Amino acid sequence: MFASLKSIGAYVPKNILTNQDLEKMVDTSDEWIKKRTGIEIRHIADKDEATSDLAYKAAKIAIKRAKIDKNEIDAIILATISPDYFCMPSTACLVADKLGITNVMAFDISAACSGFVYSLSIAKSFIESGLKKNVLVIGAEKLSSITNYHDRTTCVIFGDGAGAALISATENKEEAIMDVMASSDGKYADLLITPGGGSRYPTNEETLKNEMHFMKMAGNETFKIAVKTLTEDVIEILKRNHLTSDDVDRFIPHQANYRIIEYVRNKLDFPKERTVLTVAKYGNTSSASIPMAINDAYENGNLKYGDLMLLDTFGGGLTWGSALVKFAMKK
Ligand SMILES: CC(C)(COP(=O)(O)OP(=O)(O)OC[C@H]1O[C@@H](n2cnc3c(N)ncnc32)[C@H](O)[C@@H]1OP(=O)(O)O)[C@@H](O)C(=O)NCCC(=O)NCCS
Repeated sequence: MFASLKSIGAYVPKNILTNQDLEKMVDTSDEWIKKRTGIEIRHIADKDEATSDLAYKAAKIAIKRAKIDKNEIDAIILATISPDYFCMPSTACLVADKLGITNVMAFDISAACSGFVYSLSIAKSFIESGLKKNVLVIGAEKLSSITNYHDRTTCVIFGDGAGAALISATENKEEAIMDVMASSDGKYADLLITPGGGSRYPTNEETLKNEMHFMKMAGNETFKIAVKTLTEDVIEILKRNHLTSDDVDRFIPHQANYRIIEYVRNKLDFPKERTVLTVAKYGNTSSASIPMAINDAYENGNLKYGDLMLLDTFGGGLTWGSALVKFAMKK
């Protein structure tokens, strides 16, 4: 039995935060943001919209496109660093309830921007072992809820959104998720961190005053490790599957920074026309970044049944991963 990506869906909140808006909020400029990150706009959820609302809307599209009965879904895995509630209940349980699916295994995973690829790895194992048949995998983030809009080093980068994919059992090897690699190195934990609110620094007046509940990032150091890891990952996954970049129809990297993507793409000799780029219009949406990019490629006619996608990701933890996935959604 193989696991197969049978459908994709995404939801992007309506509100747009432009570089010009940010110029009025912090000491930055449209020119700096575009030159250093490639980001032009990012979407921001409404005040009364939480991560589960974004996830639900993306999931509904994915389920509809998969043409299956929602009750056939036997697991929901949701990757996020901005859950509706801290600790419990999981955002996956809330999404299951919104979808009207009861009596289903549902849980969140925490792997930051690598969350979608990590979830694919779990879904693949569940299906190949025969434990599950239809796994809904979601990457969803309301990063605006943990972004400090007084900190120019982070607030220009992040945006909100959600992407969802249905991963189903198939006997057709041509439709398979061929391989997933997922890894981490916790010695770099401090490079991307939300220090307050956990058991290390439980929320109190002091943590709030010091704005420890917001994301903090050592951008430059992260950048250097990101380009190295993203490149090495691709080399390894292609090598162990006896493939070259010529065999890949769509390179879909985590959309963190245009310069990072360009560095990796050039190192690996991937042509730009086969690389999916959404960072300019969505910014970095962490775990939602890759499924949103897959959805974008599909909706723009740049992805068709049978195409081989190479996913490549990197994020807080530090975590990283890559995947070789056939796009198996039929019209
Ligand atoms: C964050 C990032 C865009 C910053 O770009 P950079 O080229 O590394 O810039 P640096 O951090 O070295 O800062 C250069 C200067 O720009 C300034 N700067 C930082 N943010 C700025 C902003 N929004 N506007 C204007 N200036 C800014 C810095 O203060 C610094 O000024 P200084 O030289 O006077 O000290 C980049 O490092 C990055 O994308 N890192 C990786 C992010 C990532 O992948 N994160 C998550 C993985 S999911």
